[in-house]
Amino acid sequence: MKVVFASRTGNVESIVDRLGVDALQIQDGSETVNEDYIIFTYTDGYGDVPMEVEDFLKGNSEHLKGVVVSGDTGYGEAYCQAGDKIADEYHVECLYKVENDGTDDDIEEIKKLIQ
Ligand SMILES: Cc1cc2nc3c(=O)[nH]c(=O)nc-3n(C[C@H](O)[C@H](O)[C@H](O)COP(=O)(O)O)c2cc1C
Repeated sequence: MKVVFASRTGNVESIVDRLGVDALQIQDGSETVNEDYIIFTYTDGYGDVPMEVEDFLKGNSEHLKGVVVSGDTGYGEAYCQAGDKIADEYHVECLYKVENDGTDDDIEEIKKLIQ
């Protein structure tokens, strides 16, 4: 499965690198994808979907198959809420929530999910 990701401070990029899969990085949200994909995103603000991810999804919802989200438990109730918001809005599953850049166990679990 193709992976599309957004990363501001490098955690999501590190996760995707360790998966060893074909991946497209969202820069400004104007990118297009014409095959099924899973989106990997970080959480911004207080439980918010990053703006470039919102823009990307507006133009590319047709092939979206699921979301993997990174966050930080220090944000309490807003932990990884970007993933829940995308799942609700686009009627896909939030497949996995990972703290920051994840552990080796997280990477193994995510590998299984995206196969
Ligand atoms: C300004 C800011 C706001 C954040 N807000 C949240 C939040 O509401 N919920 C959450 O779970 N994590 C939040 N985080 C944590 C990031 O989503 C998390 O560290 C993530 O791994 C960053 O991914 P990246 O390094 O790929 O950009 C926030 C981080 C920053 C810097």
